[in-house]
Amino acid sequence: MAEPKTVTITDNATGKSVDYTILEGTHGAPVIDMQRLAADFGYFCHDPGYTTTSSCRSAITFIDGNKGELLYRGYPIEQLAQESNYLEVCYLLLYGKLPDQTEWESFNRAVRQHTMVHEGLRRFMNGYRHDAHPMGMLVGIVGALSTYYHDSLDIQDPEHRELSALRIIAKMPSIAADCYKYSIGQPYMYPINSLGYVENFLQMMFAVRAEPYVPNPVAVRALELMLILHADHEQNASTSTVRLAGSSGANPFACIAAGIATLWGPAHGGANEAVIRMLNEIGDARHIRKFVDRAKDKDDPFRLMGFGHRVYKNFDPRAKIIRQACHDLLNDLDSSHSNQPLFEIALELEQIALKDDYFIQRKLYPNVDFYSGIILSALGIPLSMFTVLFAMARSVGWIAQWMEMLVDKEQRIGRPQQLYVGAARRDYVAMDDRG
Ligand code: CMC
Repeated sequence: MAEPKTVTITDNATGKSVDYTILEGTHGAPVIDMQRLAADFGYFCHDPGYTTTSSCRSAITFIDGNKGELLYRGYPIEQLAQESNYLEVCYLLLYGKLPDQTEWESFNRAVRQHTMVHEGLRRFMNGYRHDAHPMGMLVGIVGALSTYYHDSLDIQDPEHRELSALRIIAKMPSIAADCYKYSIGQPYMYPINSLGYVENFLQMMFAVRAEPYVPNPVAVRALELMLILHADHEQNASTSTVRLAGSSGANPFACIAAGIATLWGPAHGGANEAVIRMLNEIGDARHIRKFVDRAKDKDDPFRLMGFGHRVYKNFDPRAKIIRQACHDLLNDLDSSHSNQPLFEIALELEQIALKDDYFIQRKLYPNVDFYSGIILSALGIPLSMFTVLFAMARSVGWIAQWMEMLVDKEQRIGRPQQLYVGAARRDYVAMDDRG
């Protein structure tokens, strides 16, 4: 077997040199195993935002930002978007393989068995203020699930872990729809387990007991795609939060609630909402040029929302896929749809920005959130629910990463170091003696 590659670190002050092993993954940049740095030299690494730190070994998702590649368990997102469905992607992320027919049927049955929400939880929901933000409700309700499922909270028991995963995947659509129904004062709908995952969610959101409801298949497909594309994105802020919370041994519902809280921030899950706010602010296609000029002006903090990405520097593969679904959905919609002027602005903005040198040179392409915001809006989903849908899609990623962490032999409680820059040690001064 070939010797592992190493990198040597030398302390210029003492002349001490130590070799550190370079770890190679299946894909992606190699990483230096720095775990002994403090023991060898007494130094820690300073890395705010963990931009150069690999926090774990993971076999779930791989992103190559330069190539614009996203793989779930090795499968390209384009193939999954084309061939698969959200529940099958859930199985893949959780178990690391595509299911055979028997596995698929039993997974499907198991998820359907857990779609209902305990009535006590609904009473809990009724305690929120009438205008509560649904993300605030979601954080609380998902955290509260732990108080209903004492039977499955032993995190050392693989069956308990699996049951919690199924419950989270199955109940998120019911809880999300309940939050919406509560906010508009309509009675909660119960899940109909003969429906598919997405159809069931749409009926719980939009059906009323007084009338039959038939979801539009183009809408179902667009939402299914959105769920697949947002199902996991490796060690982003909310996923890292779930892992950090889980590293202390917290129960899965508490960990996912922590992930939802992190996703809520506008720098993370809130961009699709920001896109629609921006389109509303533009208001008329005649004003687009003015907004594009503002985005290019260095003295103006305004940016085009839904353009650019921290990791994807050539294109966002998810955006490429969802763009088509977005166009299909807009074509399918009645031209009298109340949001039609907004969509026209979006499509014109997309074209103008794609041809503008400023955006071309900086490799600023529309990202997934540009299109997902438009899709959700076209589906009649209110702005305050956008991040809730992102959370619903990402729950499987969070729970798969949490399960992976619990069986990782390297896993320890997450505990970053710090560079202390506060007051130097000093003695307490009695109040009368303070100057
Ligand atoms: N509009 C106008 N100019 C932009 C934009 C934009 N949306 N994004 C970047 N730039 C410019 C920026 O001013 C800079 O110009 P210069 O080189 O002349 O100084 C250059 O492009 C590079 O920008 P950066 O800030 O170094 O890029 P970054 O990788 O740090 O930021 C970003 C990435 C996503 C934060 C940023 O592109 C942005 O703020 N976009 C708008 C918000 C948005 O859509 N966010 C959603 C991202 S997708 C969410 C997900 O994957 O979960």
